[in-house]
Amino acid sequence: MKHLIAQYIEEIRAARIEDFADRAAGVEQFRIKFLGRKGVMAELFEQFKALPNEQKKEMGVALNRLKAAATEKVEEFKNFVEQAEECGESHDLTLPADFAQRGSRHVLSVVMNEIADIFARIGFTIEESVEIEDDWHLFSALNFPHDHPARDMQDTFFIEKEEGKTEVALRTHTSSVQVRVMETHRPPIRIIAPGRVFRNEAISARAHCIFHQVEALYVDRKVTFADLKQTLLYFAKEMFGEQTQIRLRPSYFPFTEPSAEMDISCNICGGKGCNICKGTGWLEILGCGMVDPNVLDACGIDSKEFTGFALGMGVERMAMLKYQVRDLRLYFENDLRFLHQFDNII
Ligand code: DAH
Repeated sequence: MKHLIAQYIEEIRAARIEDFADRAAGVEQFRIKFLGRKGVMAELFEQFKALPNEQKKEMGVALNRLKAAATEKVEEFKNFVEQAEECGESHDLTLPADFAQRGSRHVLSVVMNEIADIFARIGFTIEESVEIEDDWHLFSALNFPHDHPARDMQDTFFIEKEEGKTEVALRTHTSSVQVRVMETHRPPIRIIAPGRVFRNEAISARAHCIFHQVEALYVDRKVTFADLKQTLLYFAKEMFGEQTQIRLRPSYFPFTEPSAEMDISCNICGGKGCNICKGTGWLEILGCGMVDPNVLDACGIDSKEFTGFALGMGVERMAMLKYQVRDLRLYFENDLRFLHQFDNII
């Protein structure tokens, strides 16, 4: 009998809920087998009664142990079944699995990462900085004349603008990061600054009050306009394909001298002229130039010893041109029909 009890205890210990095809029915069967009226316990108890008195003490203890083990196991199984029911667990393993919706990166993140990768391959590292900026980093250090229209209320979201106080605003461009980096780093400096910028514009298909830019800055001894041109050509070909051509048009930015705007040959019509490039064969891509000596000096870098180039581009525009997005508002509305179109780009 002692041996038999030990065997049953072992069987109870080894029993697992997963062994029952139908769990609820399996638990009931298990209970009846051990604790039922004609079950193992009942039968062993009959045998116990017939034992000589001197064996009863030891067997009584063993029987109690067996009963406790069976009762505990049944409780454990019942709890499991109840919880599974609450969680709505299905026991039908042949049912089709639930569809897990996989998310994907936003097209702006994809394009921003792509720009960062292209520049990383030629040694540019990433700098990020604050979105709330003061007048110095946003305008003054960048050589904006005091009455420059870009400082105007119409363009800039001011947070603090009081006579005699430092003006504080949401940054209107990532060029402010140039200043932050040059103030704290010695050349050679070779960085890109991706990030959000804010302008007080009415929202339409072609303008938004929040958008993204990537800025690039390279400062060292003997950096020339030829370095800028080569970097631009490399970037354009990596971003829009080997066949891409570039052209530079003279332009003006307070923080660069000389300044230029870069166009790429239209990637839709290949330069023949279409409605995307408005018949010109060229698409405007970014602004750039040689860092104005005033900017270097304002940031504590000796403009007699060092030169540099800078460029800045709009990420929404890059994505528009690459994926023919016609309306800026689509980027921010989070309409899944729009977002899912970019599921397969990484
Ligand atoms: N900050 C300019 C803008 O927001 C873009 C820009 C133009 C950045 C020329 C530059 C640059 O670094 O050299 O329109």
